[in-house]
Parts: sequence; C-alpha cells; structure tokens
Amino acid sequence: SEDENGVSQVVLRSPRRASARISLHGGQVRSWKTEKGEQLLFTSSKANLKPPAAVRGGIPICFPQFGEQVSAEQHGFVRNRMWVIDRNPAPLHSIDSSTGIASIDLVYISTDDDLRFWPHRFELRLRVILSVDGSLTLISRVRNVDCKPFSFAFAYHTYFSIGDISEVRVEGLETLDYLDNMLHRERFTEQEDAITFESEVDRVYVSTPDTVGIVDHEEKRTFVIKKEGLPDVVVWNPWDKKSKAIPDFGNNEYEFMLCVDAAAIENPITLKPGEEWTGRVELSVTSSLKH
Ligand code: BG6
Repeated sequence: SEDENGVSQVVLRSPRRASARISLHGGQVRSWKTEKGEQLLFTSSKANLKPPAAVRGGIPICFPQFGEQVSAEQHGFVRNRMWVIDRNPAPLHSIDSSTGIASIDLVYISTDDDLRFWPHRFELRLRVILSVDGSLTLISRVRNVDCKPFSFAFAYHTYFSIGDISEVRVEGLETLDYLDNMLHRERFTEQEDAITFESEVDRVYVSTPDTVGIVDHEEKRTFVIKKEGLPDVVVWNPWDKKSKAIPDFGNNEYEFMLCVDAAAIENPITLKPGEEWTGRVELSVTSSLKH
C-alpha cells in the first residue's frame, strides 16, 4: 500500500504487471493501468486530492443516492468518507487464488453521524479484483443492518480516459429510453445509431443490456463494461461550458474523458432488515490494433 495526503491506497498488481490503485477515501479506484503502463481512468489535473471531497476522476462510488434528491450531499456521502480494509471478507466464490488474481476488500459501516444525512444503518462492502488479463471487477454489497426497510440508488461513477471525445462511440444503448439530467430527468428515446458526442451530455439510460462498449478511435481501443444487478447506465460529459463551472476540472479536459457508469437509479433498490444486495461491474479493454 501507499500513502497520498495521509490517505492509504492499496495497489493491486497482476502477474503481467497490470495494476490498480484503490483509496480508502471513498473506496475509490484511483488508477487502472494496462500491462504496458497505460492509464485507463481519467483524473483531472485540477483534482483536489485532500479529503473529504471525492477526487475528480477514477471511480467514485455514488450511494445512497445519485444526484441531489435525498440529502444535501450530491451523489451520496460514502464517496466522501474514510473506508477500512475488510479483515473478514466473504470467500472469493468460484475464483481460484492460485491463478494469480489480486483482490482487496473494503468496507464502510454507517455511523451515528451519518443518520443526519440518511436515517438508515447499513454496511457497504467493495471487493476490487484485478484479473490475470488485466480486467478490473468491482463487486459491491449493501446490507441493511437497520430495523426498518430502506431504498437507495447506486452508481460506479467511472471516468474513462479517452483520446478524443469527438472520435468516441458508445455502443449498446441504441433505441433505449433515457432520463435527461439536464432537463429534470425528462424521459426521451435514443435513436438507432451508436452514441457520439458534440455537446454536453448528462443522461441515465434505463433498462440497459448487460454489456456496453466505448469505442475510442483515437487510442484504438475499446472498453467493455459488463454488469450485473445494475440496470441503468449514466453517460456524462460536461463539454466546454460546464467544464469551466467545475472548479476541480480543467477547461479542456472534457475532450479526454467520458463517464459511463453502471448504475441503479430509475428504480431504487429496497432492502428489508438483514437483506443484502450485490451489484457487480467488470471493466476490460481490448486493443483494436491489428498485429
Ligand atoms: C454526473 C452527473 O454523473 O456527475 C452530473 O450526471 C454531475 O449531473 C457529474 O455534474 C459530476 O458530479 P460531481 O458531484 O462529482 O461534481
């Protein structure tokens, strides 16, 4: 593990030297690199690395809300809290540790103080797995440890690093309905072509397929997002005007990032006391260069 501004980060390495770095601040994945050392996640050059605000980049976890519906803390508060390493994790089901897979288990247990923001007691666990092929899997479990039911939204707010936003295509969301965050979540239907970008986009695609792709022509690579338990996909790029209004975001950095989040937003997830929910995402990257 390493330290940044006094916050511990855990580094995972595959046998072929792909790597991932996870911060105890927010349980946030801060870096994901290929075997060749290429960074696959965007982090703003203006990011504020000091807690409590979440770092602009990587994969902040949004829970128990997405956006600002429930409490005053946009995207929920767990991304702003300190998590701990889970010393007693559930066994790695169906994964053979002899294959060289690296993983870490973190947990956030809600505090009395958190009840001011959300009046429910919960335990949120995150397992991050770096596989031999360099793919990154995040498995989150939310457990209701309260005496009454609660409902929540969840998102892996994933900032992908891309070569040029004008040359990017998102595949798998064609013809689906989406809620437009720029228009108070009004509902629209996407057209038949893959999504391309030429202005600000802030949408929640609903009831999406399990696999979504981001084709990056400039970098000649495709990100594949495979998800379970997370029916929705957020697509966000602030473009030039909004970028200038975000203090911890560089003016032209919108050209080099795209957020595509596996999420559960439209239909909140409800847990009775003692129940647990699991949401999983697997991120992989394929090079489209022919050898
Ligand atoms: C996006 C939201 O996913 O996150 C946007 O849809 C929001 O509306 C953006 O602006 C960034 O949020 P934040 O709180 O990290 O600045």
